[in-house]
Amino acid sequence: QLVLDTLDAHGTIADTRLLTIPGQSLPASSHEEQITILGALNSLLSREMIKYESHEISSHALTAEGAQIVNEGSHEARVWAALPAKGHGKPLTPVQLKKQVGDETAKVGQGRAFKNGWIGKDGDGLVKLVPAIQDTTQIDLQEIASTGTLKAGEKTLADLRKRKLIVQRKGQWFTVHKGSNFSTSTAKPETDLTVDMLTSGAWKTSTFKKYNFDAEGVPTYGGALHPLLKVREEIRNIFLEMGFAEMPTSSFVESGFWCFDALFVPQQHPARDLQDTFYLSDPKQSLPPEPEYYKRVSTVHEHGGFGSTGYRAPWSHEESSKLLLRTHTTASSAHMLYKLAAKCRGEKVEGDEGEFTHGATSTSGDEKDDGFRPAKLFSIDRVFRNETMDATHLAEFHQVEGVVADRGLTLADLIGFMRVFFNKMGIEKVRFKPAYNPYTEPSLEIFAFHPMLDRWVEVGNSGMFRPEMLEPMGFPKDVRVHGWGLSLERPTMIRYGINNIRTLVGHKVSIEGIENSPAVMF
Ligand code: PHE
Repeated sequence: QLVLDTLDAHGTIADTRLLTIPGQSLPASSHEEQITILGALNSLLSREMIKYESHEISSHALTAEGAQIVNEGSHEARVWAALPAKGHGKPLTPVQLKKQVGDETAKVGQGRAFKNGWIGKDGDGLVKLVPAIQDTTQIDLQEIASTGTLKAGEKTLADLRKRKLIVQRKGQWFTVHKGSNFSTSTAKPETDLTVDMLTSGAWKTSTFKKYNFDAEGVPTYGGALHPLLKVREEIRNIFLEMGFAEMPTSSFVESGFWCFDALFVPQQHPARDLQDTFYLSDPKQSLPPEPEYYKRVSTVHEHGGFGSTGYRAPWSHEESSKLLLRTHTTASSAHMLYKLAAKCRGEKVEGDEGEFTHGATSTSGDEKDDGFRPAKLFSIDRVFRNETMDATHLAEFHQVEGVVADRGLTLADLIGFMRVFFNKMGIEKVRFKPAYNPYTEPSLEIFAFHPMLDRWVEVGNSGMFRPEMLEPMGFPKDVRVHGWGLSLERPTMIRYGINNIRTLVGHKVSIEGIENSPAVMF
């Protein structure tokens, strides 16, 4: 109000140090007062009632000792006052002086009083040499207390600073002008137009707060995609742009039949061990698969067929019907391939013609239609393995899997596909190494050159599905299916420079890290 009234009366305030705040004990020019004034100025500025410029100054303030000198005189003055004039009474010994004025004052004051010629020795004691003194230290400090500075100049100020009687402070003062909304009323402007204001007509005279179109607003927090999901999206896009369709992969629980038997994985295969696979205790057993297909699969295992000798080992229905958490998404691929071969088996397929095949037709052309339609399928989803957990292994991870079915595909097609696919993921140098999978022949491990590690690292597994798997499903003999799989975690950890899987998945993951993780582009 003082600022507004002063502006109203004088138009401007040239120097806020000249404002006297009523009822305040401090001098207007003091640092504290200017801070109070600054608060008021900023509040008025935000309502555009005023404008101001600030000016920097350095000012001086008294220390506690300096303030004591202003009230009681300097140490030297107190020493002088305590002593008798020469020839008028008994001189005081240094011990007596200490008793009278205190240790500190006696010690500091004596030296300075001697230097000023105010006191002298008389025998063993001390006496006044002059009848009156001028206590310049006290006078200087009084001036500093009220003005923040000394007319005498920097040399004296420096001396007082050295004596720790004053300290230097950076200060501010202000020049103030009227703003575009200047008024002497500090009533807060309205922020909302209310029904009451409309009915009473108060809106006509009210002042309204201006809209701040530059305000950034309260940040809104939405969900954030986990890095694994971001990489999944990138890989999904690669598949989609290559014409692949996504397979449904929602069944985490599979039977031994679909996870292993349908893929021609021998029933004694170590991957089926309790150490490698999680089995369900309740329910323990799956519903039976379609009986004729089941028969063809069990026969090819036990006795062979389709040109194969089979495993020649007794078939276990119990092993086949065990429920488990799928150990690979190839279990889902098997379901899909079985479905893809439905027409070839002579089943009537309604409605979903071309569901996964984009309506593509058989490439053989001239022969009669055997119902086969080529397909390119992919999935990216979770699998579970009973692994010993360490920095790079958890009991669950994501698999990326691609499957291509067409007539007369060769290993060269598979290699060509993978080169294109990994290239799109930013991996230019790939190498293939013969490997073994129970369900593919030939099988290839895929290696990529890691420029940062400066070596070849394994990135995936692939192969041509065996006829022992495809033919019991009902595919014509010339249909070949190849596939490849890789983990989602590996490329994600490389992309985000993570070397411990636990910082990516699980309770140690930092939510903030997830929120701030950048988008990924291969
Ligand atoms: N299922 C294989 C794995 O778990 C990957 C794979 C998929 C291999 C398709 C060949 C064909 O590693």
